[in-house]
Amino acid sequence: MDSTKSQAGGGADTAPPPHLLRLDKVGKHYGNVIALHDVTMDVEAGRVTCVLGDNGAGKSTLIKIIAGLHPHDEGTFTALGEERRFTSPRSALDLGIAAVYQDLAVVSLMPVWRNFFLGSELTTGSGPFRRLDVARMKEITKRELQEMGIDLRDVEQPVGQLSGGERQCVAIARAVYFGAKVLILDEPTAALGVKQSGVVLRYILQARDRGLGVVFITHNPHHAYPVGDRFLLLKRGRSIGYYKKSDVTLDQLTAQMAGGAELEELAQELEAMGSHSEVVAEVEAEVGATLRD
Ligand SMILES: Nc1ncnc2c1ncn2[C@@H]1O[C@H](COP(=O)(O)OP(=O)(O)OP(=O)(O)O)[C@@H](O)[C@H]1O
Ligand SMILES: [Mg+2]
Repeated sequence: MDSTKSQAGGGADTAPPPHLLRLDKVGKHYGNVIALHDVTMDVEAGRVTCVLGDNGAGKSTLIKIIAGLHPHDEGTFTALGEERRFTSPRSALDLGIAAVYQDLAVVSLMPVWRNFFLGSELTTGSGPFRRLDVARMKEITKRELQEMGIDLRDVEQPVGQLSGGERQCVAIARAVYFGAKVLILDEPTAALGVKQSGVVLRYILQARDRGLGVVFITHNPHHAYPVGDRFLLLKRGRSIGYYKKSDVTLDQLTAQMAGGAELEELAQELEAMGSHSEVVAEVEAEVGATLRD
């Protein structure tokens, strides 16, 4: 398992696609807390870069730097060919960097088409006769969702009636329609069941196939591996590996995420604490599975 950290500019196995973003030894601290340090990663057009890490690993901090919420204070961040230090989400959006957060900012009672065009409504007529072009907005919403393979019964239905997975998909379709070049998804599958997660993973691939560079943040290597081209593993704000898919297997990714040695230590600790409880058995089983190879 060779880390590609030292060859971060290597691109794909064949001709490297154009870089949309590159973070080089980027870091960020909040007061005394080092939230991120020495992190290097790339985002390329038509590729999915996965960011994996446990709670507090620095995943959200990384997104905030890319999406313009909090500027970095170490290293360099290059977006669309120029070094940047965003000071507002607007500057990121203007370059086509769109973030879809887990707690989606949707208005539940509004119909799907209104949410799709929220803040960018189409109008018709001019002067005192200017009004919302409802028919066109509905038609475009329907078409765009269909093109992404999303089959909603009716774009008139309130967003609140959609499942979590469908809402994520609408948000992805929206970002694609409004011309995003980079799509950042913050744990889009965290609250979803197996089937719904599968649906969202499929739209990640749709966005990729349309040429977007996707940043997919997740805890789950089983979600990341099938769709990802590159994998950045974060732990306590530091990179513990940056791999191309050809250099890492799902088992290796899972083992590194789980921290095999730490799990083993925990199992021993629990055993030393007393009875051979169910918890110990469970942890041991997990350690066994993780360390299988
Ligand atoms: N605004 C802030 N002020 C102070 N410390 C912060 C702030 N934001 C994040 N941190 C700290 O930075 C570290 C990384 O946090 P971050 O939110 O990036 O982790 P995460 O990987 O997104 O975790 P989770 O999976 O729980 O969302 C944590 O120790 C956190 O407490
Ligand atoms: Mg987070």
